Amino acid sequence: INIKTLRTATNGVITIDPGYKNTGSCESAITFLDGEKGILRYRGYSIEELAEKADFLEVAFALIFGELPTKEQLEKFHKDIKSNSVVDDDIKKIVDAFPKSAHPMGILSSLTSALTAFNPSSVNVDSEEDMYNAIVKIMGKFPVLVAWTMRKKQGLPLNYGSKSLGYVENIMKMMFEQPNEDYEIDTVVKDALDKLLILHADHEQNCSTSTVRIAGSSHAGLFASLSAGISALWGPLHGGANQAVLEMLEAIKEDGGDTKKYMAKAKDKNDPFRLMGFGHRVYKNFDPRAKIIKVAADEVLNNLGIQDPILAIAKDLEQEALNDPYFVERKLYPNVDFYSGIIYRAMGIPVEMFTVMFALGRLPGWIAQWKEMRLNHEPIGRPRQIYIGENLRPFKSIENR
Ligand code: ACO
Repeated sequence: INIKTLRTATNGVITIDPGYKNTGSCESAITFLDGEKGILRYRGYSIEELAEKADFLEVAFALIFGELPTKEQLEKFHKDIKSNSVVDDDIKKIVDAFPKSAHPMGILSSLTSALTAFNPSSVNVDSEEDMYNAIVKIMGKFPVLVAWTMRKKQGLPLNYGSKSLGYVENIMKMMFEQPNEDYEIDTVVKDALDKLLILHADHEQNCSTSTVRIAGSSHAGLFASLSAGISALWGPLHGGANQAVLEMLEAIKEDGGDTKKYMAKAKDKNDPFRLMGFGHRVYKNFDPRAKIIKVAADEVLNNLGIQDPILAIAKDLEQEALNDPYFVERKLYPNVDFYSGIIYRAMGIPVEMFTVMFALGRLPGWIAQWKEMRLNHEPIGRPRQIYIGENLRPFKSIENR
């Protein structure tokens, strides 16, 4: 189908599709997803192979530029990112001004938007060179914002990374380094973090990505568009589910671990409770990311010598759902967020930071989708509606209302 011809042929006809369940918004060459078969590929590479063999920066490069990088390309990309990783000291004042109770996603979205004020040249991108500069800037600065968001919540001094470390190692140092301590990278945590970031790196036209594309379609700058995407990710029906899952598993544990009681609540249509981390708009068989994360959760907890009772609760819930007609008929399976929080917690990441970690992983996907949208010269995103309000009526003065 030629999209331009289709647009002309259907001129004047408005389709209505709440939640865009059957509406494509663009043509894209970035991520392939087959929900019936449980297939996910970035740029043609299977998610299973990428999670096993690649590192996050290589995957970020492939998503953004279309091909896996050569050694030289990867080195240059990393070098350019490192030389753009300094965040203006005045941003620290903004971080300081947030109350300690602020949710990390609110802080992250605000700081990402605030970056535009300190990097005005990144707002109007008129050439591919401008685009590249904006991309390496945000790839460099975003991890600093993520780390500062966590350190603010933990009352730790705001730090800078190290140019001698790899991209993911540097993120770990910025997040976990304690004052007066020589931080050492734990390779188990590093490998697990790499994997989690890769698994979250893109997922075609989901809620936050569509938000980034639609905000960017007005030619708002990259950082402003990303800030909009971060806000969309925050909700518990999307990225916020990883926090909600852990809180739910904790609540079940506190309540005596009675998983059957919560399965019944999830099925009760008079109860707003949903089994968080279950179900997906597109996956109607299984979420391939959840399979990989489930194995990783076992590995990480074993390697770190942690016994977390909520992992057993999660596995019980999954097993019960697999044998329950309500879940089977509706094709509700664990999604990417069901096991990720258990790993994040084992790494020492506070629950409120889980969705921020999702944003860190999704950054290259958002960038790639924004870049594709701009290079394709897509028109401004502007859906129509069916008006169901009042017909024309006369104005009544305030005394007569
Ligand atoms: N628990 C119980 N019932 C559920 C659940 C759940 N987690 N998810 C869907 N259902 C039921 C719905 O009540 C509905 O039942 P009905 O047909 O009897 O009315 C049916 O399954 C279809 O659900 P919808 O909400 O219509 O499906 P939709 O595609 O709109 O929503 C969503 C998908 C938002 C992911 C949903 O499954 C959900 O709320 N899951 C829990 C939150 C979650 O884990 N979100 C993370 C998604 S992954 C991501 O964004 C990274």
